[in-house]
Amino acid sequence: MGIDKLFLERRSMRSFSNKKINKETIIELLNAVRLAPSAVNYQPWRFFICSTDEIKQQIVKSYPRKWFEGAPLYIVACADKSQSWKRSFDNKDHGNIDVAIAVTHLILKATELGLGTCWVCNFDESILKEALNLDNVLEPVAIIPIGYPTEEISDESPQPKKRKSIEEFTEWM
Ligand SMILES: Cc1cc2nc3c(=O)[nH]c(=O)nc-3n(C[C@H](O)[C@H](O)[C@H](O)COP(=O)(O)O)c2cc1C
Repeated sequence: MGIDKLFLERRSMRSFSNKKINKETIIELLNAVRLAPSAVNYQPWRFFICSTDEIKQQIVKSYPRKWFEGAPLYIVACADKSQSWKRSFDNKDHGNIDVAIAVTHLILKATELGLGTCWVCNFDESILKEALNLDNVLEPVAIIPIGYPTEEISDESPQPKKRKSIEEFTEWM
């Protein structure tokens, strides 16, 4: 799929069929993550691939929403603060930026493979950390529910996107 079509096709999907996602497909998504750029190429991320009922129930407790319960797979993307690059002038940690880029790769690849995804950051961090038994250096950045879209919302023509105009977010100098 060309990149412009991919940009239009990708949208937040909040309804999934219960069809499972096979391991080869998940590996394709993770290969897209591997190719993401990162500060100093440190690749300071850790991805948790969560598909058992037990772990999924724990994850849902961190973001209890009806639509969120139905995903066959959740991928939790974490920044590893022990590996991330910190800018020398002010110690700014770039781990979250790197993980956001990696997640964007994953999501665009998922779109190309016909999968629906949604960024979820509005979770209770302490519940999520406990569910995954996360080490202190790992900061959960996003939960990505992934699944095949249900038929009613997987129509061929992408919905128009509500976005700012270019003028609204640029300064030309
Ligand atoms: C960093 C980030 C965090 C988000 N967190 C949530 C969330 O917690 N729950 C949710 O339903 N959607 C969440 N979204 C999805 C946005 O609402 C969505 O991307 C935006 O409304 C644009 O719609 P679109 O993705 O369909 O183009 C998040 C998106 C981003 C990029």
